[in-house]
Amino acid sequence: MREPLDAYLASRCRRVDLALDRFLPKAFVRPRTLHKAMRYSLFAGGKRLRPVLCLAAAEACGGREADAMPLACAVECIHTYSLIHDDLPCMDDDDFRRGRPTSHKVFGEGIAVLAGDALLTIAFELVARAKPTKRWPSAAYLRELATASGSLFLVGGQVADLEGEGRPTSPAQLRWIHERKTSALLAAAICLGAMSANATPDTLRDLGRFGTNLGLAFQVIDDILDATKTSAELGKTAGKDAKAGKATYPSILGMKRAEAEARRFTAGAVGALRLLGRRAARLHALADHLLNRQK
Ligand code: IPE
Ligand code: IPE
Ligand code: MG
Ligand code: MG
Ligand code: MG
Repeated sequence: MREPLDAYLASRCRRVDLALDRFLPKAFVRPRTLHKAMRYSLFAGGKRLRPVLCLAAAEACGGREADAMPLACAVECIHTYSLIHDDLPCMDDDDFRRGRPTSHKVFGEGIAVLAGDALLTIAFELVARAKPTKRWPSAAYLRELATASGSLFLVGGQVADLEGEGRPTSPAQLRWIHERKTSALLAAAICLGAMSANATPDTLRDLGRFGTNLGLAFQVIDDILDATKTSAELGKTAGKDAKAGKATYPSILGMKRAEAEARRFTAGAVGALRLLGRRAARLHALADHLLNRQK
C-alpha cells in the first residue's frame, strides 16, 4: 500500500481538523460561551475514526477527498455531540473525556446540553453543503445521517443502554444495543463517503455490512478497554461500566470470549469487503488497526 497507515491516519486527522476549524463558527463569535464549548469538545484530541473511515470509503470508491470532507465533518460533529450528552450527570455521569474535564464540568450542564444540540444541528448544515452525485441527491445524504443518529439507531441505542443498567441482558440484546448506539453512525460515515463518490447500491450494501461489523468490534473493544486500562491511558474514566452496572461483552461473556467476539466481528467486517478487492486495502488495514487499538 502506498502511504504507511500511521502516516495516513496522521495526515487525514490533520485535514479533518483543518476542515472542522473552517466549518465551525470561531470562538469569538457570539454566543461566545457556546462556540467555545463546541470547539472545546471537538478539538480535544478525538481519534477521528469516523471521519477518517468516511474519507477512506470515498477513496476506495474512486471519489475525491474534498467531496467527502463536509460529510466526514458532519459525522464527527454528531459523534462529539453524542459524547457530550453521554457524559452528562443524567446519563453516564463522567467527568473526564478526550484527556480533559467533560463539557459540563467546564461550562455547566446547561451550556453542555446546548453545545451538543448545536453540534447535532450544524452536522445537517454541513451535509446540506456536500455535493450531490448522479446516484445520490442531498436528500439521500440527509436521510442516511438522520436515520443513523435518530430514535431508531444512535439515540435508541443510548436509551436501551441506560435502561439496561443493572438488569440482566442477553448477548442478543447487547448486540442490538451496540448495533444502534455505535455501529449505525460508524456505518453511516462509511456509506456517506461512498455516496459522495457515486458508489453503486451494491457497493453501499457491502460497505454498510463492513461498517456494522466494524462498529460492533469497536464497541466490544471499548468495553474491554474500559475494564483493562487506566483513565490516563484512555483519556476518559476507566472502570465506569462495572460501577454503573452496564451490560457489556466482558461482563456477560467474560474477557476471553469478548476478545474472541471482537476478532469475529472484525473478520465479518473484512469479509464484507471481498467484492471490492484491492480497492478496499485501506479499509481492511483500518479494521486490523482498530482491533489492536490500545485507546
Ligand atoms: C467513544 O468513541 C464512544 C464509543 C462509541 C465507544 P471513540 O473511541 O471513537 O472516541 P473519540 O472520538 O476517540 O474520543
Ligand atoms: C457511548 O458508549 C456510545 C455513544 C453513542 C456516545 P459508551 O458510553 O461506552 O462510550 P464511552 O465509554 O463513554 O466513551
Ligand atoms: Mg454510554
Ligand atoms: Mg459513556
Ligand atoms: Mg465505553
